[in-house]
Amino acid sequence: MSGAVLSCPTCAHRGDNKPVIRAEAVINLDAVCRNLSTIGQELNGPVTMAVVKADGYGHGMVPVARAARAAGVPWLGVALLSEARDLRVSGDTGRVLAWLWAPGDDHLGPCVEADVDISVSSTWALAEVADVARRLGVRARVHLKVDTGLSRNGAALSEWTQLLGAARVEQDRGSIEVVGVWSHLANADCPDDQSVADQNACFAMADAAVVDAGLEPAVRHLANTAAALGYPKTRYDLVRIGIGMYGVSPSTPGSAAGLGLTGAMTLRARLALVKQIPAGQSVSYGSKWTASRPTRVGLVPLGYADGVPRAASGRAAVVVAGARCPVLGRIAMDQFVIEIDDGLGDVKAGDEVVLFGDESDGAPTADDWAVASDSIGYEIVTRVSSRVPRRYVGAP
Ligand SMILES: Cc1ncc(COP(=O)(O)O)c(C=O)c1O
Repeated sequence: MSGAVLSCPTCAHRGDNKPVIRAEAVINLDAVCRNLSTIGQELNGPVTMAVVKADGYGHGMVPVARAARAAGVPWLGVALLSEARDLRVSGDTGRVLAWLWAPGDDHLGPCVEADVDISVSSTWALAEVADVARRLGVRARVHLKVDTGLSRNGAALSEWTQLLGAARVEQDRGSIEVVGVWSHLANADCPDDQSVADQNACFAMADAAVVDAGLEPAVRHLANTAAALGYPKTRYDLVRIGIGMYGVSPSTPGSAAGLGLTGAMTLRARLALVKQIPAGQSVSYGSKWTASRPTRVGLVPLGYADGVPRAASGRAAVVVAGARCPVLGRIAMDQFVIEIDDGLGDVKAGDEVVLFGDESDGAPTADDWAVASDSIGYEIVTRVSSRVPRRYVGAP
């Protein structure tokens, strides 16, 4: 296709834009680095762990990991062992923690062999890590996770002492080394939440039991982005920064720009069609919106199969020619319809539509789409599907 080149409102890298056939997510790696630096300034110390699970929250795990490493981040955090393995395959050799796995995970051996730190929340997991390490003739690095009130992963307090005892035995045998103790907060995105203080107190108690068990982990960690920024007492030795690095707010409604952060992902497309519809004509499945006057509409070739939330039907807005254009009717699998005000002048198929990007460019944000779809910014960026090509701008 030889059509016009889309401009990139987030990164202003107009010179290196390539023609875009339908749609793309532009990932600004400079913004990722800048966000890490902004958060570090807020913490009075560097960001120590960049969370790049779920394909870097939809931004691309490996490019974002490389950007974080280039920014000097010593640890990467992922949920899955397969994600940790992918990081190693990409050439990453730094510290990586993987924290969510089920019994018999095939990736455990390769991860232990590749020096990935493994989270352990239960005696079955400890036994599997120790077995694998013995078989490989290596010492596995383990972070013991305690459930301080989220009731998700992490050993129940009633099982903590037993887990610590078993860990001590395996450490003395030489198959593992307990290098970390950690937990995760339930309500760090809420200001002045008593449960954060309660979980922190519980974490301190659990940590005292670690010392009593004769274990000496080098790192303790509890905070995600919201906690690191809002609850300084939760910072300990590592902070696990995910959403803030991507320039999305940890709370909804929320503004990343209000935290000094820049949205790293711009989701944009080219209009597939522009036309007039008469008064009285309805738009999209279910005929949920009907034109009260002759209306110019544009067809955006992105839908819920691309990750655009159907729940935002009739509630979100996009930007065309610098102006907000409301979504009309239902978002379908591959496409949705917007209103294009006549005042916008000559708008035609092929023109750029920005679904979301950085607030400073006047674009709606992932946080705006979160509000429009009763979701959270995390889900908006993470759900952009593999049907949408990513294009990277900025270093490294
Ligand atoms: C265990 C754990 N730690 C840290 C994070 C990063 O949190 P955030 O993206 O809010 O910074 C997550 C993300 O969901 C997580 O699951």
